[in-house]
Amino acid sequence: RQQPGSVFVPMHWNDQYASRARVDVLVGAVVDPISGQPASKNVPVRIERFVAATYGFAVLRRKPANIPAAYWAIAKCSGGWRLEMAFAVAPDDWASLVGELAGTDVQLAAYCDAETGRYRFACYEEDQLSGTVFLAPEPVAVSRDWAIAQLSAPNLARGKRTSAIAGRPGKGAVDRGATVCACFGVGANEIASAVERGCTTVSAIGEALQAGTNCGSCRAEIRNIIELQRTRAPTSAERKLVVPA
Ligand code: FES
Repeated sequence: RQQPGSVFVPMHWNDQYASRARVDVLVGAVVDPISGQPASKNVPVRIERFVAATYGFAVLRRKPANIPAAYWAIAKCSGGWRLEMAFAVAPDDWASLVGELAGTDVQLAAYCDAETGRYRFACYEEDQLSGTVFLAPEPVAVSRDWAIAQLSAPNLARGKRTSAIAGRPGKGAVDRGATVCACFGVGANEIASAVERGCTTVSAIGEALQAGTNCGSCRAEIRNIIELQRTRAPTSAERKLVVPA
């Protein structure tokens, strides 16, 4: 975690994976005369909040050549690329924005609500999902892991294509949550559910899900989830269960 009062900016490949992220644009090309340490490692900075009119999240099979957003950050994911965006001004031509990101030769399944500024697009090439794009006036509330998994999911029948823009699993399907244990592919929601079922120690989670039983680098995070689950307030649905009739 970053210390309060300090700013961290990655030094390598920034222009490849995010817009306006090259730290060397901010700092002077000077080094400490004695140690040779570059100014980028220790320079006073001031930060200001970027006020976004629209936020976006996309999962794309191919990395787009151009991303028309004021701020973006892109990273490789299973089956393609995941992209976070923020727009200073809400785009007025959604179709061309999606075309720039996913290509113009795609077939679209779309949900558009101009009144609330919420737009969702699923892009198909032949019968294969080639990307989804989600836009909203607030940070996009979509299960990232679920959206990424759709790139590798079996092709959907034409009548079911809109389910790719739901942003979360359908009835009966499981959202594993963000991956916590990379060794065994176990997600945060799976661990939280196991805690609710009575696995309240890291070793109990390991026995139930294998999480944490190989390299061990996820154990601290597993411990945090256990702690959070045990101290969180019950949801209204859970409260209803214990209220006498
Ligand atoms: S990441 Fe969980 S055991 Fe390695």
